[in-house]
Amino acid sequence: MSLKIENLTVYYQTIAGNVRALEDASFSLADGEIMGVAGESGCGKSTLSNSLVYLHAPMKFIRGRAFLDGEELFIQDKVKMDAVRYKKISVIPQYAMNAMNPTSKIGVMIKDLLTSKGEDFEKILPELKNRLDLVKLSPDVLNLYPFELSGGMKQRMVMVISTLLNPSLLLADEVTSALDVSSQKAVAEMLVGFRDQKIVKSMMVITHDISILYQMANSIMVMYAGQLAEKASTDTIINSPRHPYTKLLIQSLPTVGVRFSESRLAGIPGNPPLLLNPPTGCRFRDRCPVAFAKCAEVPPFVEVEKGHFLACWKEGKTHA
Ligand SMILES: Nc1ncnc2c1ncn2[C@@H]1O[C@H](COP(=O)(O)OP(=O)(O)O)[C@@H](O)[C@H]1O
Ligand code: SF4
Ligand SMILES: [Mg+2]
Repeated sequence: MSLKIENLTVYYQTIAGNVRALEDASFSLADGEIMGVAGESGCGKSTLSNSLVYLHAPMKFIRGRAFLDGEELFIQDKVKMDAVRYKKISVIPQYAMNAMNPTSKIGVMIKDLLTSKGEDFEKILPELKNRLDLVKLSPDVLNLYPFELSGGMKQRMVMVISTLLNPSLLLADEVTSALDVSSQKAVAEMLVGFRDQKIVKSMMVITHDISILYQMANSIMVMYAGQLAEKASTDTIINSPRHPYTKLLIQSLPTVGVRFSESRLAGIPGNPPLLLNPPTGCRFRDRCPVAFAKCAEVPPFVEVEKGHFLACWKEGKTHA
């Protein structure tokens, strides 16, 4: 088992009150698994990813535990998380492309990063060149400034940097969202290549665009309004989803493989609830076509068939 998360609950403390962005998330990731994390904007995907790298303000830890390769991740401890970052767990944050230091040449930036991690740049340089080759970048990029790279090149550069020290787990947050369709496909293939070449052991690919996941993810976890809704193999989520929200999400997609825009979700009546004051029970209740009285209680996220997890009172009965 690569990653195991138990009851992770994370809020944002604001003057208006707590924004309940992630509530009792429990799931695991197998060795070699590429798991897509899907759901509408604002459902807590980045909160989940960011909290696993280092949970700090404005995020507020409420409860939960995380384990990577059997060892506990002390997600609130900056020193401990700095020690594992890049080496055991690495994130490509949302908007990473724009966060590269504009005043340093890329090679210098990588050298500084490696030095700060106690690694020797010269020793790693041959492997760095291999990795650049893997993502179809020339070693000349090391002498360039970030602004000299196109969006697609920057994204591939960020992917190389974040995986250079072979982290066990890679968290890729909306890495394809700002790219054109052909760059998206290339980035998706490269991420799968990182796993196949054992550069990383497992991966969470976070996206609001579920169609990106069809080709690359082994499994998909669907989130809704800060709660986990369903997790199963990619094939099951696409062809036989059981959670009412997943069903609507899949139905609202045009056809498999066609890029989906967020506006398509207008096909699902209503809007996700505000997480400052979310409804009790199942947060999908107001929009759910099959809601009933029991849904006023929070449905547990349970395994209904092997590898198929679901949080729904109506559809969640096991076949056992
Ligand atoms: N810094 C913040 N302060 C307050 N609320 C936040 C902050 N960042 C995110 N949120 C809220 O937390 C919820 C989850 O956000 P996020 O994890 O970014 O969603 P996603 O990545 O799925 O789009 C949203 O309701 C969002 O408005
Ligand atoms: S628990 Fe109830 S409201 Fe939630 S998805 Fe299932 S049936 Fe719908
Ligand atoms: Mg996000």
